[in-house]
Amino acid sequence: MSSRIFQNVLQPEDISAILEFYQHKPDAKTESYVINKNFEYHIPEDFSYQLLHGKIEKILGPHEFDTGAYKECIKPYPLHSDSPETHSGIESVMSFGTKKNLNLAILIPLVEGDEFCTVVFDCYSTQDLKNKQQPTPNQLKQQDFGHCANQWPMLNRLPIVDVYHWRVGDMFIWDRQQYHVSADFARYGLVKKFLIMFVA
Ligand SMILES: [Fe+2]
Repeated sequence: MSSRIFQNVLQPEDISAILEFYQHKPDAKTESYVINKNFEYHIPEDFSYQLLHGKIEKILGPHEFDTGAYKECIKPYPLHSDSPETHSGIESVMSFGTKKNLNLAILIPLVEGDEFCTVVFDCYSTQDLKNKQQPTPNQLKQQDFGHCANQWPMLNRLPIVDVYHWRVGDMFIWDRQQYHVSADFARYGLVKKFLIMFVA
């Protein structure tokens, strides 16, 4: 499965309930510049499972939770993959568990607007990004990726499959091994709030 947007999966009251629930949870302090709160989808009695499991099962069918978090970011992420395995592509590949079946990332935006954008590339952590660069630049604008200054010459040449503008109610799902990047929302003084989960 490549990246795909599922619209109107969540209602405005679901988003309010998510924000309200996590507002009272402590920061797990696992990352700089990011408030990370434990997302306990592996517990069937948990709020997150109760709210989301039926909706995700309708989309994906049976699925196994690997890891995830409620996040509030004040800095955008540069180009990376959330692969469950470490590959040699670029240094910012993150390493997680080793189980694999669906191997997907699921993003649930809790804020929306044109400033919040995730770009997914036709590039996977198993591939060498140097070989994926195209002769002509893609549609990305350099001013939206000021946080990726050192990656820009490559970023601007990678083949894009999705430029996803965040909308509340959506679920945005992509292959966990696929490279993606956030646009620079921080230059507008905004904070990005979302749920991210990975299914094995
Ligand atoms: Fe990511």
